[in-house]
Amino acid sequence: MTEPLLVASDVVAGYRPGLPIVQGVSLQVAAGEILVVLGPNGAGKSTLVKSLAGACPRYGGRVSLGGRDVSALAAHELAAAGIGFVPQSANIFTTLTVEENLRAGGHLLDRALLRDRLAEAWARFPDLVAKRRAPGHALSGGQRQMLAVARALMMAPRVLMLDEPSAGLSPLMVGEVFRQVRAIADGGIAVLMVEQNVKAGLKLADRGLVMVGGRVAHEGAAAALQGDPLLAELYLGRHAAHADPIAGAAR
Ligand SMILES: Nc1ncnc2c1ncn2[C@@H]1O[C@H](COP(=O)(O)OP(=O)(O)OP(=O)(O)O)[C@@H](O)[C@H]1O
Ligand SMILES: [Mg+2]
Repeated sequence: MTEPLLVASDVVAGYRPGLPIVQGVSLQVAAGEILVVLGPNGAGKSTLVKSLAGACPRYGGRVSLGGRDVSALAAHELAAAGIGFVPQSANIFTTLTVEENLRAGGHLLDRALLRDRLAEAWARFPDLVAKRRAPGHALSGGQRQMLAVARALMMAPRVLMLDEPSAGLSPLMVGEVFRQVRAIADGGIAVLMVEQNVKAGLKLADRGLVMVGGRVAHEGAAAALQGDPLLAELYLGRHAAHADPIAGAAR
């Protein structure tokens, strides 16, 4: 069994001290593995991944990467240490060209490495080559997500965290993005992905974690979660009833 590359223990995070959104979440992701984070709107999924990337405050817990404690590192230090992050929105510079976006993602690299990583990006995402000089705002939704992922890969992360990369995409493009995510994991990267589409997410992932109210409600092998009645209940049962007073009253 592979040692987990990313280990988070009892993570508490949010936007104001004393008002935690993520309330003690632990997770592990191994190299080559995809962990999908599921859960209803407002569960704290984005806050969790943001806190692991240093993009929002963490108030407690520990994070380690490849056995190194990275709990105290700032966002740019986490990026340099090997944590790549594609946020849920605003994940590319729309006024910069595709190539400028990639160069920005690799601005810490020396010239030779930057050239190599650019070549890798063009090879991995051939659709972006034709758009090389197009501004980000001229891309389709799918192309934007590809660019956002390619940008994060410029630093050759060991862990890649993606927040709803399929949001707003056509089924065809979702398939394309997911195919890329699997290829990235197969290359030995640990992938932590937030996903709204439970079925598609569990089909892609190796393991799943369900967050409800800032805590882990359920976790396990993706195949096992797929048929789990508890998962359906979390989405359609009592939690939904609490969240929606009309649905609750109708029960
Ligand atoms: N920048 C912010 N400042 C203050 N509170 C925030 C901020 N971003 C999110 N929150 C709050 O944190 C809680 C969890 O939000 P979060 O975005 O982590 O949920 P989510 O599970 O990603 O939801 P979704 O599925 O809608 O993306 C919500 O109550 C939200 O209002
Ligand atoms: Mg979110």
